[in-house]
Amino acid sequence: MASPPSLFLLIFLLPIGPAVAGCRENTSLAGFEADLAMVQHQVRGVVRIVDGCSFSVRGFDMLAGSDQVRWFGAAGDDLHNLTMGSRISDLPLNRTFRNESLTIRLSDNASWDQIAVLAIWDEATASDFGHVLLRNAGDNETEPAVAPSPDLSPAPSLASDSLVEHKSKSQIHRQPTMFTNCFALSSRFRLRWTLHPESDSVDIGLEATVGSEYYMAFGWTTPGSSSHMLNADVTVTGFTEEGNPFADDYFITGYSECLLNKDGKVEGVCPDTIYEGSDPVGLVNNTKLVYGQRIDGVAFVRYERPLVSIDKKYDVPVNMTQNMTVIWALGLLKPPDSIRPYYLPQNHGKPRETAYNYLSLNLSKEVDNCFGPLDAEDKEDQDIIIADAKTPLVVTSGPALHYPNPPNPTKVLYINKKEAPLLRAERGVPVTFSIQAGHDVALYLTSDPIGGNATLRNMTEVMYAGGPEFEGVPASPTELTWLPDRNTPDQLYYHSLFGLKMGWKVQVVDGGLSDMYNNSVLLDDQQVSFFWTLSEDSISIAARGEKKSGYLAIGFGSGMIDSYAYVGWIDNNGKGHVNTYWIDRKDAMNVHPVSENLTFVRCGQENGIITFEFTRPLSPSCSGKIECKNIIDPTTPLKVIWAMGAQWLADNLSERNMHSVASNRPVSVLLLRGSAEADQDLRPVLAVHGFMMFVAWGILLPGGILAARYLKHIKGDGWFQLHVYLQYSGIAIMLLGVLFAAAELRGFYLSLVHVKFGVTAILLACAQPLNACVRPKRPAEGEIASPKRIIWEYFHIIVGRSAIVAGVAALITGMKHLRHRYGSENVQGLTWALILWVLAFALLVMYLEYMEIKRRRIHRSSLKGNWVLGNSEDDDSVDLLHSERTVTKSESQTSGIMEVQLEPLSR
Ligand SMILES: *[C@@H]1O[C@H](CO)[C@@H](O)[C@H](O)[C@H]1NC(C)=O
Ligand SMILES: *[C@@H]1O[C@H](CO)[C@@H](O)[C@H](O)[C@H]1NC(C)=O
Ligand SMILES: *[C@@H]1O[C@H](CO)[C@@H](O)[C@H](O)[C@H]1NC(C)=O
Ligand SMILES: *[C@@H]1O[C@H](CO)[C@@H](O)[C@H](O)[C@H]1NC(C)=O
Ligand SMILES: *[C@@H]1O[C@H](CO)[C@@H](O)[C@H](O)[C@H]1NC(C)=O
Ligand SMILES: *[C@@H]1O[C@H](CO)[C@@H](O)[C@H](O)[C@H]1NC(C)=O
Ligand SMILES: *[C@@H]1O[C@H](CO)[C@@H](O)[C@H](O)[C@H]1NC(C)=O
Ligand SMILES: *[C@@H]1O[C@H](CO)[C@@H](O)[C@H](O)[C@H]1NC(C)=O
Repeated sequence: MASPPSLFLLIFLLPIGPAVAGCRENTSLAGFEADLAMVQHQVRGVVRIVDGCSFSVRGFDMLAGSDQVRWFGAAGDDLHNLTMGSRISDLPLNRTFRNESLTIRLSDNASWDQIAVLAIWDEATASDFGHVLLRNAGDNETEPAVAPSPDLSPAPSLASDSLVEHKSKSQIHRQPTMFTNCFALSSRFRLRWTLHPESDSVDIGLEATVGSEYYMAFGWTTPGSSSHMLNADVTVTGFTEEGNPFADDYFITGYSECLLNKDGKVEGVCPDTIYEGSDPVGLVNNTKLVYGQRIDGVAFVRYERPLVSIDKKYDVPVNMTQNMTVIWALGLLKPPDSIRPYYLPQNHGKPRETAYNYLSLNLSKEVDNCFGPLDAEDKEDQDIIIADAKTPLVVTSGPALHYPNPPNPTKVLYINKKEAPLLRAERGVPVTFSIQAGHDVALYLTSDPIGGNATLRNMTEVMYAGGPEFEGVPASPTELTWLPDRNTPDQLYYHSLFGLKMGWKVQVVDGGLSDMYNNSVLLDDQQVSFFWTLSEDSISIAARGEKKSGYLAIGFGSGMIDSYAYVGWIDNNGKGHVNTYWIDRKDAMNVHPVSENLTFVRCGQENGIITFEFTRPLSPSCSGKIECKNIIDPTTPLKVIWAMGAQWLADNLSERNMHSVASNRPVSVLLLRGSAEADQDLRPVLAVHGFMMFVAWGILLPGGILAARYLKHIKGDGWFQLHVYLQYSGIAIMLLGVLFAAAELRGFYLSLVHVKFGVTAILLACAQPLNACVRPKRPAEGEIASPKRIIWEYFHIIVGRSAIVAGVAALITGMKHLRHRYGSENVQGLTWALILWVLAFALLVMYLEYMEIKRRRIHRSSLKGNWVLGNSEDDDSVDLLHSERTVTKSESQTSGIMEVQLEPLSR
């Protein structure tokens, strides 16, 4: 603010002689003021147009740029117009500016007429650090801004009128990064605020040099509360996994993360909305996110809250003229999960003043003790991809969401699904790209930070690989292999030859995991790399997460349940650990530490990426304990899964350790061959197998048995035909289903329980039509059945019912296999449906049985103890119905079987 008038005068007066030609003293823009929009390098400041040939900046903050950073004038703030712009001052902005005030003279050939956008621009990398729009894009550029001398053109247009009026009010274009106050809470955390007494609200900006997995919390304590933390009304801000900012209203009722008590009450650091359940959301959640960004390793979130909220219960009223106690904290954030669908701030840890603190604050007292921009040690926010031999990097294109070096085109390059990541390559390790970004994108590796063929911009570049022919689409990708060698510089860029700024940096380093291990594969979803080297009786294994996390776990097994897990993490002192576990259920209680004999254990973290290594015997030399069963057999595929999360507390395993991301399915690693294949989702053929078996064993075959048992009293031989058709079609569908499964799995695996039950059921079922062929003749009417016939009946019924029991068992064990492939959640519903189906069937049978008994009682009393079922009555009615009754073979069989209901025996 305090611009020394002498300096101002000096600069103003100095070039007065030669400048007359280019500089028009008068401009309609004079007095125009606007905030600099922060794009990079933590640029802040208020630009004011002084007159036709100079402007001033006050409160100017900026992290040092290269020697080629200048004030620039351009016709628009997009990539094209900014790159076409030109320097308007020769002042190099190659140092850090801390809350400074400067006055800058335009160079001779520049004038406000041609400038719609005033930017801080790095020509070397085509980077926009910050800018001010002098006119709206729609305004005409030449006419209105020029204030011609009165004798020239007559009436200015309406648009120009309003523009002048607008400018004459010298309205400040406010940027969300700008505030009236700033208070340094700690060396890495700042509170900025602007009070709006007229609307009884305050805008708060939280700014900290923390990673994207951290939260920034700030709020007011309840006056008179015994503890600073309890009953405090805080706002928790941070960034989602997708990089979007959030600011939520929280209230603290306990010294823990938000937990549901046994009595159904929530306690801890919980969102206001959780306390009241689904009650009026607007009332309790009244913190409004205004803006958020992560730039240069600095997280920034701006939100607005009312000073006095309608919500008396969970919001502390703020008296802006009074000293009030505020608290703040920085800590790790746990993403929402299905149980708790909101962000869970974790314990901030210690020490006070760097992790948390409380202090007295009076909002209406102006303060600015932030001297200059926050300077993060690690400014690289971009995802990092480490290139390994053998696994091609998939290069695609997609929308620019968080491109690291704005301005940028709308479409940029993605590698392995990550937007413009930092690519790390190792000297001596070939990097393979599978280029499928479209025909308008040709990959090349260049020394030029901007890309898009530097020759076209009259610049020179060194090309290391690629060229115009390296373009492709997913259907026909083009492969590019590049071998960085000893002479490759430490940094170069991958870009498209056909467009500016679509790629990002390539970092070339010496040696790494790829060099040290013989084999490597990517696990599911390309998020974890798995390395190994086999020796005689041991195996060396390394795992590396491909994204930032607090711990990395890999497991041997087809799911989290019943797996042996190896967890690598960094403790609070920065030391790496690797522990082994046996997991038998899906919650924290069932992660059992085991002591495996690991050697050469290492765990490290770089840029948030965890790498761990260990060597273990293929077969543990012990017996009895669970870890002794953790045998690696190199000849069979090893199923590997993974998980990552924010924090691992080895001595206190709890829900906190639960992962935030995990593999969707295991990858089968062929240790000897050095390759891997993903376990496929339930193969459609197996699904068909399951469905056919359900139709056969759940509907047709039991239906046939029911028909035989309960439909006999219905006249005619309908029940027999139904029985025979149902059973034959059931058997046919069942045999088809078996063929499907056997063909898909290439053989029978008799060791599986499911297959055992299945084969038993099939054998029994197939025995039925065979024994039906040899059944003894039915007794003639009125005759008592022959013993042979009765034995056959018994045999037929018992075998049939055992077949059904075995078949249903096979169905249920089949569901178990489904669960193994799909995970329990997805299959649980189906399993229940099957169980319900079986129960419903059982109920139906009971009901029918009951009806049958009743029917027979009535029948028997009317027939005076004729214990052979249904003869006369059936025959009578058959006669009535089929007047031309011809005794066919089937009918004679029918009544034969009818007679041999084993009624007396089942009593
Ligand atoms: C930027 O350049 C494009 C292409 O030349 C042009 O169409 C557009 O109007 C310019 N934008 C502004 C704000 O001047
Ligand atoms: C900035 O650039 C000027 C001119 O090129 C040079 O004299 C000065 O030493 C540079 N300052 C820094 C901090 O690099
Ligand atoms: C801007 O002014 C020029 C003449 O100076 C005119 O041709 C053009 O149509 C104007 N554009 C707009 C958008 O008013
Ligand atoms: C609070 O409200 C905002 C929108 O107004 C919403 O995005 C956010 O998820 C809400 N937070 C909670 C914890 O309900
Ligand atoms: C705020 O505190 C001042 C004393 O510091 C008091 O005079 C004023 O009434 C208070 N305002 C409210 C709204 O409580
Ligand atoms: C408010 O706090 C400041 C120091 O932070 C102190 O100087 C001032 O006396 C306090 N005012 C009141 C009313 O307590
Ligand atoms: C770059 O453009 C120039 C001029 O059009 C052309 O001669 C050159 O071949 C291009 N470079 C590449 C690598 O295609
Ligand atoms: C490159 O240089 C040529 C000749 O000097 C010139 O005609 C052309 O406009 C220049 N192109 C750019 C983009 O500066």
